[in-house]
Amino acid sequence: MKTIVGLLFLYTVQTIHLEEIVDTTLVLRSTITLDCSYSGNATAIQFHWSKVNGTFEETICTRHQSYGKYISEKYMSRLSFVVENSASDVSIILKETSEADIGIYICYVALFPTGTVKKVIAVQADDFGHIEPSSHQSFKENASITLNFLYTLLGDVKQVTVQKFTSGKIDLVASCAHVRNGRTRLSYGFDFIHHSFVNCSNLQNITLIIHKACVTDDGLYQCLFWSDVKTQTISKRVYLQKKGTTSFSMLALICGASSLVIVVIFTIAALCLVRKKKNKKIQAKQVNVSFNSTYPQLQLDTGDGEHVYANFVSNTSFSRSWT
Ligand SMILES: *[C@@H]1O[C@H](CO)[C@@H](O)[C@H](O)[C@H]1NC(C)=O
Ligand SMILES: *[C@@H]1O[C@H](CO)[C@@H](O)[C@H](O)[C@H]1NC(C)=O
Repeated sequence: MKTIVGLLFLYTVQTIHLEEIVDTTLVLRSTITLDCSYSGNATAIQFHWSKVNGTFEETICTRHQSYGKYISEKYMSRLSFVVENSASDVSIILKETSEADIGIYICYVALFPTGTVKKVIAVQADDFGHIEPSSHQSFKENASITLNFLYTLLGDVKQVTVQKFTSGKIDLVASCAHVRNGRTRLSYGFDFIHHSFVNCSNLQNITLIIHKACVTDDGLYQCLFWSDVKTQTISKRVYLQKKGTTSFSMLALICGASSLVIVVIFTIAALCLVRKKKNKKIQAKQVNVSFNSTYPQLQLDTGDGEHVYANFVSNTSFSRSWT
């Protein structure tokens, strides 16, 4: 009996442990990129990729600062590095994948002087499905991203996980769990340790701050709250705007709006001409009334007016395209 209880306990610990340490989950495609780059201050001496097979870890490849690289024969023909000779990036591309590539991958980074850190990537067959964000926010490149997630349901929150979704990929941003004496334990996902700050001193009210945002921070951020009674999920879509340049879609909208204005002005001008000819036969008073009620925007038919109209059209279409 004791053994069974012991085994059950071990099993639970193991599942919780694994759940916490998966830094990235990828959907299997014909070509997959397994990202692993180190952005801290220590010196990366060696990178090592392995794949978990049962209780073993099979070596995929190793890259050492001075000894060069080694690629296992099994992967030789379909593996390449994203950056060939980088001192901090050992991301790999696997092509011609099959179902045998589903599983857990681990990237070990041996650092001097701090020791070895690892990133765990799970590759799965199933896609994540569509997630509808509850809000949209846009930020400028190099600015700070601040996202606030508020638990609004009943119960005391015991654990919180913040994740980032991009196409076919989930990254763990951070997870916080309630431990004894009202304290919380916070751990960051591999790519967010040096990049973000999560305040979870109050598990019902989570704030995520990303300093110096860059284009890769674009994505959908999701906060999952687990309380003793309910779970709640809040998703926020974050858009990154490149600094100093208007985005292509914005430009397209402005162009579209301007051409629309030109077409409207042309039509009005043409109608005016037609009506002017008719004026010879119809009383002037009548024409004025019908003209004003049908085309009130003719009042904007000046340089300034055109500008105002263009902005108005582009703004509405812009916000609509986000909803
Ligand atoms: C796992 O290891 C076994 C025994 O070494 C091997 O036969 C099998 O092909 C491996 N599985 C994968 C998916 O690599
Ligand atoms: C974290 O948030 C709490 C409020 O929930 C605030 O009182 C505290 O100052 C914040 N801590 C930091 C380091 O920002």
